[in-house]
Formats: sequence, structure tokens, C-alpha cells
Amino acid sequence: MPADRNDEIHKSLREHLAWWGLRHIESDAAYFSWQREVFTAEDLAALHRSIEAKRAATGGSSADIAFYDLTAQSRFIPALYSQRYEYYLEVGLRIAAQLEGAQTVLDAGCGIGLLTTFYAQRCPGATMVGIDRSPASIALARQRAQELGLSNVRFECLDMDQHELSGRYDLIVATHALLQAEQDPGLPSCGWQDFNRDLDARAQSDFEQRTRVGLRLDRLRHVLAENGRMILFEKTRQLARRVPFQRALAARGLALLLPPEPIRYRSIEEVTDDGPLYVTGLGSSSNVLPWDEWPEPDGAPPLHVEQLQSVRVAQDQPLYENHEASAQQAWRDLPAKQVVAQVTRKETDGRQLHVEWGWAGEFAYLYCANTFDQRQLVVVDQARSAMLETYYQEILGEPSMSKQGMVR
Ligand SMILES: C[S@@+](CC[C@H](N)C(=O)[O-])C[C@H]1O[C@@H](n2cnc3c(N)ncnc32)[C@H](O)[C@@H]1O
Repeated sequence: MPADRNDEIHKSLREHLAWWGLRHIESDAAYFSWQREVFTAEDLAALHRSIEAKRAATGGSSADIAFYDLTAQSRFIPALYSQRYEYYLEVGLRIAAQLEGAQTVLDAGCGIGLLTTFYAQRCPGATMVGIDRSPASIALARQRAQELGLSNVRFECLDMDQHELSGRYDLIVATHALLQAEQDPGLPSCGWQDFNRDLDARAQSDFEQRTRVGLRLDRLRHVLAENGRMILFEKTRQLARRVPFQRALAARGLALLLPPEPIRYRSIEEVTDDGPLYVTGLGSSSNVLPWDEWPEPDGAPPLHVEQLQSVRVAQDQPLYENHEASAQQAWRDLPAKQVVAQVTRKETDGRQLHVEWGWAGEFAYLYCANTFDQRQLVVVDQARSAMLETYYQEILGEPSMSKQGMVR
């Protein structure tokens, strides 16, 4: 997309976010000070309780609806939703750029309509429909659309899990709405040694049912016009979630029209990486791209063992450390590898975990891998090899190779 077009969309998006009362805050200190001005202690306690209830709920939707109802109060919007300021900029920009030519647009799981109203403003000739199962979110969306004088958008309170959708749309948008079951780890790889996933219809169907993404996609697909497009952005950074999500799309005839675009944005000071935004469609088989089931290039430094001798680090630091998918290749390429100890076992959550430590010439290494795509390679000099033995025991003492349990 031309840079000046991007700039123009961003400018109007910033104005739109400001109209909603959102601010671009970049420091935690400034953000928390604003929160203290806006929220009472009771407000914060209620929000925390609601977040916990939403996290703890397995399968049910009532805690989820209660959470979005609570956060849709007008007085909460500026401070709460400003945390997602950059998310709105990144997602809003990409979707706004795809709106051209669309006559009927559905925003599925539109929340308070913050982005839906932006799309409606940009495309006065198109009809927009936003649906969401949170009544308070829909009430606020309707009120704000009216205040903005928008006559080309309407909002409906509807739960996609409970009801069929009606209408015909040539563009359907769903952002952070279909695969929010964040605790679901996804589909494990065939083994700790690779990232492949078998085409296992049963495991795929279990994933689609557990997360409800199958039913939601079926219902959206049902109202997608012939040659229609669907733009999706969900939390699929981990390959274990991305692969079954992509397979669910492909199984419904949705083909990739543009290269998936990984989106990273900051939530105040924290960088969030949710995985790719997909532009898919029901078009002909020409001009479509293949689905890729491999890890993205991760940018971790390559390992050159022959250069480690000259690396200078603090006493408690490793000479080399890689926590990304590319650690697998670096481990495979370790020269003169001699394993001292290794364990491969099944964890209580079903994942297979492999941990080993050993020598690569004069250097000691520790390698961990599991079937949910986590990889970790640490290399130290001889003097620090006891440190790796300790890490090795610690990891085996952990119930699973969680991020926290990894060597950092
Ligand atoms: C994280 S918010 C995202 C809102 C908006 N799409 C955005 O990008 O800012 C997720 C929204 O999806 C809605 N949602 C989740 N499951 C739904 C379902 N089965 N039917 C309708 N709405 C749903 C929730 O109520 C919530 O408002």
C-alpha cells in the first residue's frame, strides 16, 4: 500500500480514536496514574474478578459476556481501551485498506463497534453490520454510531455459537473474536524433533469443537457471498494454534489471497505479537497462495561455535542462547556433539518434552524441545557447565516446560 495512503488512514484513525476518548500512552507509569484517576478501588476489584472468572471459565460463555458487558461502560472506555491503542491502529489500518469495493460488510464479534464505526465512516456507500453477544457492547455501539451520525451501520446482539446468521456479505471481518480460547494450546506436533503436524481429522475436529472456531467459521462462511472475502486476525502466534486455525479456514474453501502479515503492536510498554492477519477468499484457484505450516523466521542470532571462544559475557551469562524455533537447527548443527544426559517424557498436559545436556567440543550445551513448538538452546564454556546441569535438573523438576521454567 502506498505510504501516503497509509498515513492518511492512520491520521483519520487517530482522530477517530481520539473521538472515542482514547489516548496513545507509552509508559506504564503514565497509564497507571490515569487509571487511578478514573477507577475506584471497587471498579478495579470488579474488573479483576471479571477477568479471573473469564479465564477460569471452560466452555461457558456467560463469564465472557459478563466481562465485555462490564468493560462496555462509557466511563471505562477511554482508560481501558487505550491499552489497545496500537492494536486499533495496526488492525484498523489493514482492514480499512481492504474495504474498497465492498458493498456489504459484516464485523463479527465487533465489541463496542470502535473499529466498525471507523469502517462505516470510511465507506459511506457500503452497508456495515456489527454483531456481538455482549448486550452492553451493542448498546454502546448503537449509541456511538448515532452520535457520529452514521446511517450505513447497524448493530445486532447475537451469539454466533447459538444462532445462525442471516444476510449476504461480500466482506466479513473478524478480529480477536473467533479464537479467543487463549488457554487452548492447539495441535501438538508429531514429535519434539520437528514442527510437522499430521493431517489428523479427529484432532482437528476436537480443536474446532473445543474452541468453537469450527461452528463460528461455518456460520460466517454460510453468509459469505460468492467471491466474497474474509479477513481474520486471531491469537495464532504459536504454530500449534496457527496450523489448526489455517486448516479450519482451508477446509471451508477459504483460500489465501495475500501473504499472511504478522502484526506486532505495543500495549503500553509491552510488545504483543498475535500472529498473522489473513486475507482470504472464496475466489477461483488462480492467484491464491499456499498455506504455510512452518515457523516464521525468528531473527535469533545464528550459532557459530568456532567464534564462541572470543565471546565475552558476564559470569552468570551463557555464551549463546536461543529461545526460538531456529534453536532446533542450531542444535542439529552442533559439532562433535556428545550427550551426557537426556530425558524424553510425556507431560501431564499431553505434550512430549525432551531435555538433554552434553558437550559440543569444549562447550557445554542444554537443549529443550516440546511438541508445542518451544525450543531452547543454551551454550556455555567449560567453567560454567555445572550451571547447565542445574538447569537440566530444574527443568525436569518442573511439571511442564513453561516459559517461566525455561532458562532466561
Ligand atoms: C476481544 S473483543 C474484540 C472486539 C473487536 N473485534 C476488536 O477487534 O476490537 C471480542 C469480542 O467478540 C465477542 N464474541 C466472542 N464470541 C462471540 C460469539 N460467539 N458471538 C458473538 N460475539 C462474540 C465478545 O463479546 C467481544 O466483544
